[in-house]
Amino acid sequence: MNTERIDIVSGDREKGIRRAGEILKQGGIVAIPTETVYGLAASAFDDEAIKKVFIAKGRPQNNPLIVHISDMDMIISVAEDIPELAIKLAEEFWPGPFTMVLKKKNTIADRISAGLDTVAVRMPSSNAARDIIRSSGLPLAAPSANISGAPSPTTALHALSDLDGKVDAVVLGEDCTVGVESTVLALFTDPPRLLRPGAVTAEELYRFIPDLVIDRAILFEPEIGKTVASPGMLYRHYAPKTQTFLVNCTDEQFVKLVNSKENCAAICFSDEAADISGKKIVYGDKDDKESLAHNLFSALRDVDSLRAECVYVHAPNKAGIGLAIYNRLLRAAAFKVINL
Ligand code: TXA
Ligand code: MG
Repeated sequence: MNTERIDIVSGDREKGIRRAGEILKQGGIVAIPTETVYGLAASAFDDEAIKKVFIAKGRPQNNPLIVHISDMDMIISVAEDIPELAIKLAEEFWPGPFTMVLKKKNTIADRISAGLDTVAVRMPSSNAARDIIRSSGLPLAAPSANISGAPSPTTALHALSDLDGKVDAVVLGEDCTVGVESTVLALFTDPPRLLRPGAVTAEELYRFIPDLVIDRAILFEPEIGKTVASPGMLYRHYAPKTQTFLVNCTDEQFVKLVNSKENCAAICFSDEAADISGKKIVYGDKDDKESLAHNLFSALRDVDSLRAECVYVHAPNKAGIGLAIYNRLLRAAAFKVINL
């Protein structure tokens, strides 16, 4: 398949947005920018288009998709029995990197929910994403625009490198500012449950939900055969091909560990980089966790080009957006953790 490039940065933005909307209306699938990661969008009402999304990504059928809306009145076309709390949280966190799992409406394509009676809904803050949704006139289902299992794409080039030839078009927009996928909160359970941490932090959610439950799968390896609330948390994910270890330790300990290994690489903080003698990728300042989140997936994509036998990643602390970074790194490392 020939994948159309739609450049909305150096090309005609309005024309590009219109073109993306047309392809989506016709049942095509299009990679689009959002503030978190690039998404692979399709009409939420078109089961055939959704099927193409699963095939292009090689995504397991039992992993449901998030539906993206541009305006609050669109929510009633995808969800029902919307609780008061959802409205309050939407007022606070939408548009933004925040997804709520609600009771689904039967009008949406069956495959989106992978057999569940719920639907995940998000209103992105990216203007490009909302403009594309408006231009299509449809709620858009959009998983991250990567091949299933690979690190999520935070630039148009990442999306192209995974999906060129497999999708109808890629919108070439700005790099993603946040860099990790949205926070996912289940609201159909009582009390509500955090299924995936993101830039809207657990600390922020506790202000509205004092009895918020943090799903066990966020920080622990799922037990084999057990069902989990968020199927996406089941898999080894975000993983480079290079064998990856996540390391909890001080700067001094990290430098000592990686300098003692031959032909291993490091993904490290900026303040320790000068002391690391081997191959390394700096992913940001340890006191600026937004920068770590922003650079995380690029670092995981770049690491294979270092041709190292393994890579050690220095873990951030888990406060704030640190929980999201730690959660992704755990999966990138297939739960191989070194505590010093
Ligand atoms: O930031 C994001 O959320 C990005 C951008 C493109 O918006 N999208 C994204 O989609 O990360 P995806 O498909 O890579 O991750 C969706 C996550 C998965 O962990 C999935 O299991 C969970 O949301 N999810 C979706 N629908 C669900 C449902 N009905 N119940 C529980 N979990 C659900
Ligand atoms: Mg994903």
